Amino acid sequence: MSKILVVGNWKMNPATISEAKILAKKIKAVAPRLQNTDAVMAPPLAFASACAPQKPVKNLYLGAQFVSVESGVGPFTGEVSVDMLKSLNIQYIILGHSEQRARGETSAMVSKKMKNALEAGITPVLCVGEMNRDQDGSYLEPLKAQIKESLEGIPKKYAKEIVIAYEPVWAIGAKEAMMPDQIYETSLFVKKVFADIFTPDAGVKATILYGGSVNFRNAADIISIGKVDGFLVGRESVNAAGFVELLKTVDSVV
Ligand code: PGA
Repeated sequence: MSKILVVGNWKMNPATISEAKILAKKIKAVAPRLQNTDAVMAPPLAFASACAPQKPVKNLYLGAQFVSVESGVGPFTGEVSVDMLKSLNIQYIILGHSEQRARGETSAMVSKKMKNALEAGITPVLCVGEMNRDQDGSYLEPLKAQIKESLEGIPKKYAKEIVIAYEPVWAIGAKEAMMPDQIYETSLFVKKVFADIFTPDAGVKATILYGGSVNFRNAADIISIGKVDGFLVGRESVNAAGFVELLKTVDSVV
């Protein structure tokens, strides 16, 4: 069995570089003690260098939350290319997050960014998820379409490099996570769509994370009943004590 992957999406937190360094230091301290878990910290880009380990830390990787749709260099004010992320030793990039989609990122842009990231050797964490959920399953078709559009034009050879974070939008920043049995059910659906796009084998082997109100209290159940390969964590990833506890909990469940 492969390792559990826990990606901490710090979003636009914390407020200062000194707070960011303190948070990163605590994560760097716990990561080497993990047995079955890899942790990714994705601080705001402005803090990436300050948070990056000076030398490699076992089980710990650096992530980014944003990349430009443009590649190379050029007159693109405010943009950051995938090669620039690579040169900062960033190994993961969160793409298609609902908060970015709400700010104008389309699935077509996501697929272009996915391709750029994969070509640069950065692992994309593709976020997908329905806005609302009803009893009759009508959210499944739009979810499928979102996955297909976000992966449009990605060569099959890259299938095993892609991480999918299933994040029902209604469970992000909410009080409660989705129920673990529903997470299991929907992650199977996501795998099936992935298999249809790439190959049956790629579907079976796909890395599916769950995101949406994960914390150290609900993490164990979501791993064991929801059977996901890890988490994309928002709020709990900037709460040092909670995130450390979450990593330890996940590590002991496997
Ligand atoms: P949350 O955010 O853990 O605060 O719900 C998750 C996310 O948006 O990735």
